[in-house]
Amino acid sequence: MIELSHDQKPQGWSAGAAGYETAFAPLTNLFVPDAIQLLDLKPADRFLDVCAGTGAMALPAARMGVDVTAVDFAPGMVALLRARMQSGGLSAQVEEMDGQALDLPDAYFDAAASMFGLIFFPDLGAGMRELTRLTRPGGRVLVGAWDHARFPLAAAVGRAMATLAPTPQERTEVPIAMRLGERGRLIGACESAGLVDVQVHEVTHTWAIDDPAQFFTSLPDWSPPIQPVLATLPLAAIARVRDGFVEAVRDLSRLTGGLETTALLALGRRAST
Ligand SMILES: C[S@@+](CC[C@H](N)C(=O)[O-])C[C@H]1O[C@@H](n2cnc3c(N)ncnc32)[C@H](O)[C@@H]1O
Repeated sequence: MIELSHDQKPQGWSAGAAGYETAFAPLTNLFVPDAIQLLDLKPADRFLDVCAGTGAMALPAARMGVDVTAVDFAPGMVALLRARMQSGGLSAQVEEMDGQALDLPDAYFDAAASMFGLIFFPDLGAGMRELTRLTRPGGRVLVGAWDHARFPLAAAVGRAMATLAPTPQERTEVPIAMRLGERGRLIGACESAGLVDVQVHEVTHTWAIDDPAQFFTSLPDWSPPIQPVLATLPLAAIARVRDGFVEAVRDLSRLTGGLETTALLALGRRAST
């Protein structure tokens, strides 16, 4: 049996939904206009958002009059997104489902996307095949992944953790969420699922973290990839790592006023039959 990592299980995402919305959605939101434009979403299009989280993409799409179905495996994310849809006077289907096996009809959607969510799946191929199966022939599919080499939040955490180790340790394994963070791998995953005309768009935005110390302190509340890293550290070590993080963020933000973060947005089409 495959051992799942913490960020591949719903619990941490679920409990952290509100914190995620405050701390991390400001980053993912930056890439949403790019994704909506690439998908060419139009009012009344049937659109599927897999790993919708707190609604970075589902909410603006619903506001445009798009017919949105949003799914996520974390009940806390689903509850928060339903509440946000309702308080915004918007209508959408928001359901708790695992993106690797979706209980939705074949070829129903005009467009489907997974922004920074499918990247966590234990079975990336199953997630890609589901996006393809559910999209009509000729319909658009988009997958958003962080560029492994240009994701400075990870660099800042790495530098901060290095303040605890006297000699820097070479990290060799690719983190779970970075397995598609390289153009060739992302294209391969899309094409293996049967998508055609696949193009990867490299999009960079500058993410200013207003209060890096507060951001760091909030990480255990909402970040499943980072929770296990910090869980083993004693309090004094956490304070040192926090200070290292603040310094690293300031340093990495110096030239541009924020963390220059690059996403790879892969856009393809389900082949017409
Ligand atoms: C980094 S968040 C991205 C959320 C949103 N798409 C955004 O851009 O802000 C990752 C989301 O993927 C969801 N997720 C992870 N694995 C999943 C799975 N196997 N099935 C469905 N949702 C999953 C998590 O619950 C979380 O809401």
